[in-house]
Amino acid sequence: MKKLFVVGNWKCNPNTLAEAKRIFDSVSEKVKPRNGLETVICPPFVFIPFLKGENVKLGAQDCFYEEKGPFTGEVSVDMLKEFGCQYVIVGHSERRKWQGETDEMINKKVKATLAGGLKTILCIEKESQIGPDLKGTEYSENLMVAFEPVSAIGTGKPYDVGAAKDMCSLIRKKVKDVPVLYGGSVNAQNAEDYVKKAGFDGFLIGGVSLVPDEFVRINQILI
Ligand code: PGA
Repeated sequence: MKKLFVVGNWKCNPNTLAEAKRIFDSVSEKVKPRNGLETVICPPFVFIPFLKGENVKLGAQDCFYEEKGPFTGEVSVDMLKEFGCQYVIVGHSERRKWQGETDEMINKKVKATLAGGLKTILCIEKESQIGPDLKGTEYSENLMVAFEPVSAIGTGKPYDVGAAKDMCSLIRKKVKDVPVLYGGSVNAQNAEDYVKKAGFDGFLIGGVSLVPDEFVRINQILI
């Protein structure tokens, strides 16, 4: 059976721990555990230690590539693991834009997070952003690629399903046996098409991941 990944990226939301707990607990209570479904929430770092739920795995939105040392503001792989993170998003286009992350930095992060055993969701817009050294199978067990066209992120304008399908096939040629997710204005109405018509293995979801009922509904589309 095909495994489906539904990953929520909360970005810099919500404002308070109370609200973070409310959203997380609501998803965790309503999402039904089932074989072949992996539900993940990636909150801001500060909330991570306070969120626990049986049916939802924890992830982070970024991670530095050094283990420790004089790197003000950074968080390491081991720090994330200590607080129960199993997943990490790397190379999100908003980090490329606001933090000036380059393909080179992102590649270092991917290697460090994979080496540390974190399931790593590498976000790309172009297939050339998959580092040449990630092609082999040695890392593939924990690597996932998320196709996130910038024009579709947070705009309410999801990417054309046919064009997304072409991109999905291109990515699969480059990194075999790696789950490929789609991200960009996913909602409960359009989600199914990206899996059934375009062949993705799941989603990376921003805005709607903060709306528990809709996020839960997306988890149930293939039931
Ligand atoms: P969106 O964000 O679902 O709000 O478009 C997706 C993302 O940035 O991962």
